[in-house]
Amino acid sequence: MKKVLIIGATSAIATETARLFAQEGASLFLAGRTKENLERLAKDLECRGATAVHTGIFSASDLASHDQLLEQAFHALGEIDAALIAHGDLPDQKACEHSWPMTEDSLEVNLLSPIAFLTWLANYFETRKTGNITVISSVAGDRGRQSNYVYGAAKGGLAIFLQGLRNRLAHHGVSVTTIKPGFVDTPMTANIPKGPLFASPETVGKRIHKAMTRGEAVVYTPFFWRFIMGIIMHIPEQIFKKMKL
Ligand SMILES: NC(=O)c1ccc[n+]([C@@H]2O[C@H](COP(=O)([O-])OP(=O)(O)OC[C@H]3O[C@@H](n4cnc5c(N)ncnc54)[C@H](OP(=O)(O)O)[C@@H]3O)[C@@H](O)[C@H]2O)c1
Repeated sequence: MKKVLIIGATSAIATETARLFAQEGASLFLAGRTKENLERLAKDLECRGATAVHTGIFSASDLASHDQLLEQAFHALGEIDAALIAHGDLPDQKACEHSWPMTEDSLEVNLLSPIAFLTWLANYFETRKTGNITVISSVAGDRGRQSNYVYGAAKGGLAIFLQGLRNRLAHHGVSVTTIKPGFVDTPMTANIPKGPLFASPETVGKRIHKAMTRGEAVVYTPFFWRFIMGIIMHIPEQIFKKMKL
């Protein structure tokens, strides 16, 4: 893979994936919300072997500007072989229960913004007839739980959107990859006590790189989350209601 667009590139997980593409000599376009963080990451990736690194600023709340960022990436890279959408935000569930603006903000960052990017990218790749689109969803989207259903609704909605898009673009030689990580030790989970189920961003970033290269469909990472979620999804509703999940 030669020319890769990474949206939400400063995420701890996406940074690890970007490093692997850099080691292969890829040209990269990094999109993020902070100029300083993007510049620091760009230097890191150049040192690791990236052929070229371009950067662009975006805010997930400014949906109208998303097409502009993609045009910028397209012009900088010349073409796009693969795109990774990684940005996301874990909202305070309890606070969201009392605040529509906070709920709306979470749906914007975790669902509407990725879909705005995907609308442009889908048409680009459909015409190009080759390439890969990868998006980081979450195991939280597999079943609504009382402890984080606002975030779960966004990630679940995103996974369904990707399922349909994968079906559409399969007829045009384009793969669409849904990544479903479990707990990952990143700034997003800084306030959550760590346990044995936590994976490192390196492990998850490496798995994403492999999935993008192979054009896989749905990837649980680490792999054991497929089994954990298989069990959780099969718990009868009557019992599930009584659990404090
Ligand atoms: N960590 C986990 O346990 C876990 C589990 C399942 C799925 N995920 C998903 O994995 C992806 C990467 O997260 P991470 O764990 O690597 O966490 P992270 O390091 O905190 O990265 C989050 C990224 O989202 C960006 N972001 C947040 N709000 C934004 C906004 N309004 N506009 C633009 N960018 C925004 C952040 O930008 P800044 O760098 O500028 O802050 C950062 O690049 C997310 O989609 C997350 O939902 C994470």
